[in-house]
Amino acid sequence: MQPKSDKTFFNACGSDVSSAASFLSHGEVVAIPTETVYGLACNAFDEQAVTEVFRLKNRPFFDPLIVHVASMERAKDVVEELPEMAQKLMDAFWPGPLTLLLPKKSTVPDLVTSGLSTVAVRMPAHELTLELLSSINFPLAAPSANPFGYVSPTTAGHVMGHFDGQIPYVLDGGACRVGIESTIVGFTGGDAIVYRLGGISLESLNEVVSGFELELMHSSKPSAPGMLKSHYAPRTPLTIQSLEEFKRGHHIGSTAYISFKDAFEMDGVEVFVLSPLSDPSEAARNLFKVMRLVDSGNYDRIVAEKLPEVGLCRAINDRLFRASTH
Ligand code: TXA
Ligand code: MG
Repeated sequence: MQPKSDKTFFNACGSDVSSAASFLSHGEVVAIPTETVYGLACNAFDEQAVTEVFRLKNRPFFDPLIVHVASMERAKDVVEELPEMAQKLMDAFWPGPLTLLLPKKSTVPDLVTSGLSTVAVRMPAHELTLELLSSINFPLAAPSANPFGYVSPTTAGHVMGHFDGQIPYVLDGGACRVGIESTIVGFTGGDAIVYRLGGISLESLNEVVSGFELELMHSSKPSAPGMLKSHYAPRTPLTIQSLEEFKRGHHIGSTAYISFKDAFEMDGVEVFVLSPLSDPSEAARNLFKVMRLVDSGNYDRIVAEKLPEVGLCRAINDRLFRASTH
């Protein structure tokens, strides 16, 4: 067990970038909004602050953090070299929900990368956080602002629910526009590989650099850190079923059904629709909010609909699969 910090804070929540910058410059941990999910941020060069982020999240040290930068130029502060493919992807998708795994500079503490020779780097597309990053002279290491293994937060309120009194400031940038985490891409021996599906779809990546391979981690002890099997998980048991399968089944006790687009009525079942308009972006934006809502609803179980394996729906299926008991 790591020692518990004896610090307690009067937690403040607001949109004051200079307060956030001041706390971060003094080695404190601050929650920040991004277009994907909220992050638990600290100075990436400050090992003590990075340790505190791991402690707050109860995150194992073998699971490395993403480093957030203000611009492509500032990415060079943490990255040793930029392959051409990476440059193309940055040009196309930054700022935005794309994280690149690139050879790290020695100035990045090994703690941040869990001893790996690559660093995960991204430029988030959120006005407040970009303003914050431009106002400080260090990059921000930031994992999602949830306890390790739980559903990621998409509002400042979600973050307050987890860390109230434990961090000095939550920078409130409203509800996250994308709602699921960034897509993670790396380069091995000239190949472009997707390690985590997220806010940028495989199809969109392939339009810029063709031939992407999917190498999603599904083991419970991955050889490369990251992408653990059980993740994004509510406390209520969750299984995945098609709508037809679910409607045919017998259901004992109370069930929350997370449906992609269809509302329907059934005894003992409450239905939560991700996107009445059948829009994958809207579904992604609502996913974690709905998962949190149903988890707090005292249902005996959650059943989620499997979505078509295309575009952003692929990333939604991935999150549902990791949240499920299979
Ligand atoms: O959208 C996002 O990416 C959000 C926002 C806050 O930026 N961040 C986020 O961070 O999702 P986190 O820590 O919850 O997930 C980062 C993932 C982890 O699965 C971690 O193992 C992986 O990125 N990762 C980080 N550095 C890596 C590296 N050098 N090699 C392989 N995987 C890495
Ligand atoms: Mg996370």
